Amino acid sequence: ATGGLGSEIVNVVNKLQDVFTAVGTSTSQIDLPQICVLGSQSSGKSSVLENIVGKDFLPRGSGIVTRRPLVLQLINRPATTPGPKDNPNPNIDPNEWGEFLHIPGEKFHDFDKIRQEIVKDTEAKTGRNAGISPVPINLRIYSPNILTLTLVDLPGMTKVPVGDQPKDIEKQIRDMLLKYVSKPSCIILAVTPGNQDLANSDGLKLAREVDPEGTRTIGVLTKIDLMDSGTDVVDILAGRVIPLRLGYVPVVNRGQRDIDTNKKISLALEAERDFFENHPSYKGKAQYCGTPFLARKLNMILMHHIRATLPDIKQRITTQLQKYNAELQTLGGIMGDQSSSSMVLSVITEFTSEFRSAIDGNTDDLSVNE
Ligand code: GDP
Ligand code: NA
Ligand code: MG
Repeated sequence: ATGGLGSEIVNVVNKLQDVFTAVGTSTSQIDLPQICVLGSQSSGKSSVLENIVGKDFLPRGSGIVTRRPLVLQLINRPATTPGPKDNPNPNIDPNEWGEFLHIPGEKFHDFDKIRQEIVKDTEAKTGRNAGISPVPINLRIYSPNILTLTLVDLPGMTKVPVGDQPKDIEKQIRDMLLKYVSKPSCIILAVTPGNQDLANSDGLKLAREVDPEGTRTIGVLTKIDLMDSGTDVVDILAGRVIPLRLGYVPVVNRGQRDIDTNKKISLALEAERDFFENHPSYKGKAQYCGTPFLARKLNMILMHHIRATLPDIKQRITTQLQKYNAELQTLGGIMGDQSSSSMVLSVITEFTSEFRSAIDGNTDDLSVNE
């Protein structure tokens, strides 16, 4: 997968899930936090999410395009059939598909059709004239290349009603957004275009209201390519404008022309890398710029979350094993090999420490801004 959330964390979560399966417990689970985008209309929220997932499927464009929340559940599922190479249509991977809650049982292998369905169902509930609705669209995407995780694409903040929008549109959208971003488990991507004054960022303002300590807000600066020449976001990145604990990441998404010409996500990510590597303000720090760095930052936050939940999971597994061992004892030990259960525990213990050192070695990445 291009530019998506790293395979490292997919492996970690899969390995843990394997251990749980081996122990035969359904009570232990890795619940990863939900990731939401917050920002004003057309700031680039849908584009950012799409780049993180590494798939083309979200409606994007100027004006109010995202008019209902889209709750996007990514589900990691091992490949079961040969990949796209062996398929008549190389753009379609039989192991990857989307399914909508409102169309149960229908598998969408074509991601363009997914986008069309999002547009269709948005219009069905809100009309065509810029109406909004808090009723979410629920979409699941199954793939061997993604992390089991929930992302939420949200309508942008706006002040002046247009089309069929109610007079109190600002409040209605705000209330809708608050429902998602108030949750302490929600990681907020506060999206602000680089060519806009950070002090006026609606996304950042709301993020600060619900996360005043800044423990779960990442600043994302979009449209860096559209900034006037001679201007840059270096001061923001260095924390000299509005400091954020988890820092800011500048990105370059596809512009409207790229959308109109169906520019591929892989090409867009290449162009983004070229942009930062060759720009006089960023070339010395290009590794801290762009979508791959944003994905890495998210990975680290998720890793920290997993680490924080490991002791509790370990405790639950230990309890379960003790119960299992006691049962074996009463059966006179003839039903199974006692050593296998302690083996599972030692696997997870070893894994925990291996995992800890891996995270400790990478912690710097979380706050890097200069
Ligand atoms: P949203 O309304 O916040 O979800 O924003 P979209 O992702 O729909 O993008 C709005 C418009 O801004 C689209 O025309 C995008 O092509 C454009 N856009 C978003 N990010 C960038 C960027 O980094 N650079 C350029 N040039 N255009 C962008
Ligand atoms: Na838009
Ligand atoms: Mg959008």
